[in-house]
Amino acid sequence: MSEPHIAQRGPYKVEVVAGQEYFWCRCGRSATQPFCDGSHKGSEFRPLKYRAEQDGRLFFCGCKHSQTPPCCDGSHKKLE
Ligand code: FES
Ligand code: FES
Repeated sequence: MSEPHIAQRGPYKVEVVAGQEYFWCRCGRSATQPFCDGSHKGSEFRPLKYRAEQDGRLFFCGCKHSQTPPCCDGSHKKLE
């Protein structure tokens, strides 16, 4: 798989709503980060669907290199 584009070297803080589905941008090309806007079309990337189990604040990965997507796991600190 090719490397995703680094949208931002840090997470996006988002208030999520219980029961709502979110489509995290995996390719890094979306203009509406951290979520998919369809810009992945024509590439091998697809968004990752995430369903919030409860209301709360989440930190969605912006660098697209997290090992626990869609959330940030600190991997952005190790990027070149
Ligand atoms: Fe990607 Fe933190 S923003 S791991
Ligand atoms: Fe990046 Fe859809 S725009 S996965």
